[in-house]
Amino acid sequence: MTDDPLPPPSPTPHSGRPAARTTARTAAVIPAAGRGVRLGPGAPKALRALGGTPMLIHAIRAMADSRAVSLVVVVAPPDGAAEVKALLDTHALPDRTDFLVVPGGESRQESVRAGLDALPPGYDIVLVHDAARPLVPVDTVDAVIEAVRDGAPAVVPALPLADTVKQVEPAPEPGAPERVVATPDRSLLRAVQTPQGFDRATLVRAHETVTDNVTDDASMVEQLGLPVVTVPGHEEAFKVTRPLDLVLAEAVLARRRLNDGF
Ligand code: C5P
Repeated sequence: MTDDPLPPPSPTPHSGRPAARTTARTAAVIPAAGRGVRLGPGAPKALRALGGTPMLIHAIRAMADSRAVSLVVVVAPPDGAAEVKALLDTHALPDRTDFLVVPGGESRQESVRAGLDALPPGYDIVLVHDAARPLVPVDTVDAVIEAVRDGAPAVVPALPLADTVKQVEPAPEPGAPERVVATPDRSLLRAVQTPQGFDRATLVRAHETVTDNVTDDASMVEQLGLPVVTVPGHEEAFKVTRPLDLVLAEAVLARRRLNDGF
């Protein structure tokens, strides 16, 4: 018998998977630079209030609630970094978490890249979380981090679809009839949410390599040919996009307050 600790697991050659890491530090990047035009006129979406608190503050707290997250990088509207910094100063946030605010770009991709560029060394796992998903539960955040720690280069929270989905030939004008060309098998489809979790080096490489316009970060890792895996998503991690989503988000908050009161 020997008391020597086990050596750390070595990376598997050619598997495309980093080795499992139990001690890697985690940072969260929150792109919050969108205008949110689909919500209607008013302040940038991330600064709209939910239960009296800006959506962005809810999203930041959702990341900082995870004990594994020690840095949150907020990507502010290009002309709104000072306003976002002031917002962080006036709302209670956990002491154990560090915060940075950087200006974003024209597209979500550019904003995420600005957040990645601002990351100091020492963070090997990166979460990317939409400010527009303010109510994601901490268990979902932790499940994503755990899957990256277990060796997945990219992890997405995902839910089965309730609706049947049709592929169409898009009409030239919104609202005009569109020809349906296919009905994909719903059981093979998932709706994905954030936070998406990544091995940092993989995500940086994806952002350096992929120039196509994409709607999430995991698809950039897919384009590198690396595996992306899912963990169960959560219905409360929905994206606040349209006015009805604000009503739903207020209802979720009211239910949480009621439950916390007992
Ligand atoms: O527009 P969409 O709802 O897909 O935006 C998702 C997230 O990306 C939002 O949190 C939004 O603030 C952010 N975003 C950004 N920079 C942009 C556009 C969107 O940070 N230029």
